[in-house]
Amino acid sequence: MSNKIFIFDTTLRDGEQVPGCQLNTIEKIEVARQLEKLGVDVIEAGFPISSPGDFNSVVEISKAVTNPTICALTRAVKKDIEVAADALKFAKRGRIHTGIGTSPYHIKYKLNSNEDEIVERAVAAVKYAKSFVEDVEFYAEDAGRSDNAYLARVVEAVIKAGATVINIPDTTGYCLPSEYGEKIAYLVNNVPNVDKAILSTHCHNDLGMATANTLAGVVNGARQVEVTINGLGERAGNTSLEEVVMAMRSHHDLDYDTSIDTKQLMKSSKLVSTLMRMPVQANKAIVGRNAFAHSSGIHQDGVLKNRENYEIIDPAEVGVEESSIVLTARSGRAALKHRLHVLGYTFEDEELNDIYNRFLDLADKKKDVADEDLEALAGTERIKEDRSIKLESLQVISGSSTIPTATVAVSFSGDVFTETASGNGPIDAAFSAVKNLVKRKVHLEEFLIQAITRGSDDLGKVHVQVEHKGKTYYGFAANVDIITASVEAFLDAISKIG
Ligand code: KIV
Ligand code: ZN
Repeated sequence: MSNKIFIFDTTLRDGEQVPGCQLNTIEKIEVARQLEKLGVDVIEAGFPISSPGDFNSVVEISKAVTNPTICALTRAVKKDIEVAADALKFAKRGRIHTGIGTSPYHIKYKLNSNEDEIVERAVAAVKYAKSFVEDVEFYAEDAGRSDNAYLARVVEAVIKAGATVINIPDTTGYCLPSEYGEKIAYLVNNVPNVDKAILSTHCHNDLGMATANTLAGVVNGARQVEVTINGLGERAGNTSLEEVVMAMRSHHDLDYDTSIDTKQLMKSSKLVSTLMRMPVQANKAIVGRNAFAHSSGIHQDGVLKNRENYEIIDPAEVGVEESSIVLTARSGRAALKHRLHVLGYTFEDEELNDIYNRFLDLADKKKDVADEDLEALAGTERIKEDRSIKLESLQVISGSSTIPTATVAVSFSGDVFTETASGNGPIDAAFSAVKNLVKRKVHLEEFLIQAITRGSDDLGKVHVQVEHKGKTYYGFAANVDIITASVEAFLDAISKIG
């Protein structure tokens, strides 16, 4: 059996089902492109029959992304499968993911059916999907609570019908790792044609065991794992991509291989968290703010002597620049000396003692001591050069009987420039003023304003897509003033032009 584990990312489908996490098409494309950079094998881009927005996202992601297979979800229903096939028409490699419930709960209470009929419906769905695409994945919903012998019967039948991948979801997050591992092992040992398909894990985290269950599935023969960035997903979430990948990378004894570029993990996590407005818990494994932060004096001293004393992963491996030594009242001289050294200051012991005493006084009053505090303590203020492009002020005149005019002041690396322009509306006028200021040929390709909730006093979210010399740049901003948000999003995109 090969040791390659295929990474199937469902952030844009199962992850996006989380209330409040819905993304528009531009945002989904941005995530999909990042997932491609990350190196996932499959992107589950949506459930096309569920809404025109989902259908459109699958179409646009299929166009925007080249390397990963694009997968579309369906129920075991003809119309779903037809719509999914249509949405996948631009995919270089398209996969239909169809399935039906196989647990006693689903068969009786959800589908009002019986075991024989479910097998028939599963086989018919796979055969129908197969008439559109070669790559068909079948999911046995609630497999976690399904009887293993019945599950084996369903799996054998759908593989015979042409399924290339078989997904065994622990839909309710019920299984224990030993139980889930045994389920996969049972299928490996009792489905005669199992070698004709890849078994896939799909675990939910209701009991906090999604990662453990996924690894148990892999150890017992699954060769695809269904995961999401930051573990986003229904209820308590899905298996987190970064946890599974780093568990495999860190345990060389497991000898599994994925195509993930782990240096892209932090960037992917931040992008998904920002766009989905789902903060990552500080102590989240791998990508949490504290995942590589050391605050106790003993640990800080140990890490400074040798990182591996207290870290099993080199932060650089997951795209984090360095372990952080959080300076608090519990930090020792070694940590303070190190931080000052990083900031460019070296002190003799006596001077350091003096700074250390003043540092302890300050740390008793403040929770964390920041670099700026240290610089003040060290008696020097570093002059920071601000290289960013920033909106300094914006004034617009608009109304039914006036020509919309905007005056925009923007700072470039700290120097402020002002420009006034008119347009066919206040945003058009402000954008014209910005274009005059940046003196670059930028073409606005997409512009989208959304309210985050519902009220007229709500924050407006603005996404823009601009083109410069054949390359596309995305910008985002949120503000209670939609014209300000628009200009900030425009500047955000422009600031990304190299
Ligand atoms: O959790 C689940 O069972 C699912 C299926 C639709 C694949 O997400
Ligand atoms: Zn799921």
